[in-house]
Parts: sequence; structure tokens; C-alpha cells
Amino acid sequence: MPSRLGSAPLESDLMPDLVERYPNLHVSPHPLVAHKLAYLRDRTTDPKLFRELVRELTWLIGYEAMADVATTLVSVQTPLEPMTGARVEPKIGLIPVLRAGLGMVDAMLELMPSAEVWHIGLYRDERTLKPVEYYNKLPDAATVQVCLILDPMLATGGSSAATVDILKTWGAARIKQVSLIGAPEGIATLSAAHPDVDIHVAAVDRALNERGYIVPGLGDAGDRQFGTFAGPSSEPGHESGETAEVVRRLQRNLSGGE
Ligand code: PRP
Ligand code: URA
Repeated sequence: MPSRLGSAPLESDLMPDLVERYPNLHVSPHPLVAHKLAYLRDRTTDPKLFRELVRELTWLIGYEAMADVATTLVSVQTPLEPMTGARVEPKIGLIPVLRAGLGMVDAMLELMPSAEVWHIGLYRDERTLKPVEYYNKLPDAATVQVCLILDPMLATGGSSAATVDILKTWGAARIKQVSLIGAPEGIATLSAAHPDVDIHVAAVDRALNERGYIVPGLGDAGDRQFGTFAGPSSEPGHESGETAEVVRRLQRNLSGGE
């Protein structure tokens, strides 16, 4: 990575050991990503600006996630002469995880207008932190070769690992996770369950707190996009002993203690 003399360290600079440990992990080194992410995290950023930033960051991370996609040669006739150009070869599927992944769809469709969009509905049980599936209308057999899971937050990794399970059963040949912030615990969980899945993030944060939220993070990505701040799950300090134990177990796994 080029050195940035006089610059503040980026989140990606703070996690060299994780990047080394998980070859499937790709943390954006781009200063523009870090710049936008700092606005996204800010508690005073309102839902309108938050949605705009999610879209812009998805554009940037999604672009990086497509860097190794296969292309095929095509003949192109320019106004001046014929030439050989390139076209993305595999059929691409975008898999937004409801709700928070919805805000990432438009940006990816701007990059790849012909991509198919297949929604998966999952929410985290607040107590167990386990994902609960509530929406899945995938047809019987996979219609795309490369699936990009869109979800801004990779926290415990449970939602992501469950989505990958669904997509592998469906028959997806290649799967990538496109997120904005990852926690070390979630990266470890997803990588252990599915080492073949590339993980693309804008940043890796320090840890999960006792409620399973990423810290420093940005709070609840769904609530911040859609302005839904009512309810106990949005209130800091709403932890339960059971949730804290789930997080401690993940942290022991991460440090190789179990
Ligand atoms: C959030 C987020 C992920 C999940 C990440 O969704 O968008 O889907 O949590 O957590 P995990 O890695 O621990 O599984 P949430 O359950 O809050 O649902 P929402 O998007 O409907 O608010
Ligand atoms: N989901 C979120 O929206 N934020 C977190 O920090 C963890 C899960």
C-alpha cells in the first residue's frame, strides 16, 4: 500500500494482523472511503445524509469487490475502427439482506444495471444474536453465477453465514460479502464457516460490545437509514446476560480459546 505521509491512519492500517490472518478479507485502503465513513459514523448525521453516504460507499466498495470478475472479449466497432473490448462474463446477482442492505442496491445497480436482485429477509434475535429468516423467494435453481451479499454491518457474522448457506444450497458458484463495517468476531465466524467467500469492507472495527453491536461502529444501520429509532433495541444499555455470553464466546473463538 502506498504510504500517506502526514495523513491520519486509516481503519485498514489498524488491522494488519487480521488482513494477514484472513486472505479472503479485503479492507479498502482508499482515503475517500475513510473520509465518507467518518461522516457515516457521526451520530449527528441525519437519515437523508446517512442514506446518501451508504450509497456512495457501496459504489466504492462494490467497485473494488468486482476487481477480479471474469471478462470475455468482444468485438467493438468505434466510429474510427474495429477493436477488441471486454464484457463482464458471469451473471451477477445482488443479494440485499433486509432491511439495512436495501440502501446498497441502487449503487450496485448503477455499476451493473443488468444484475439480478434477490432479497433475503433476516433479523437478529436480540437475545441470542442468531439470525431469523423471514423472507426468501429464491427460485429452485441459481439463476446467477456470482452473488454479492449486500449488508452494511458484519457483526457476529451470523446473518452473513446464514445467507451464504442459503446461496450455496441454491447453487451459487461464487459468493462475495460487500459490507461497510466488519467486526473481527464476524470476520472470524464467516471465514471459518465459508473460507471461500471474499469479504469486502470499508473498515474493520475494534470489537463487538456486550449487546453484539460493533464498536466504535455507527449504531444500527437499519434504524439510521430509515429513521426508526423507537424501541428498546435502539437504546444503549439494553444488554442481557445471555447476549453478553454469546459475545464472550465469539471473542474466545476469535482468540483461539475454544
Ligand atoms: C443488522 C445488519 C445485519 C445484521 C448483522 O440487521 O443489517 O443484517 O444486523 O448482525 P450479525 O452479523 O450479528 O448477524 P438487523 O438484524 O438489525 O435487521 P434490520 O436490518 O432489519 O434492522
Ligand atoms: N447491526 C447493526 O446495524 N449495527 C451493529 O453494530 C451490529 C448489527
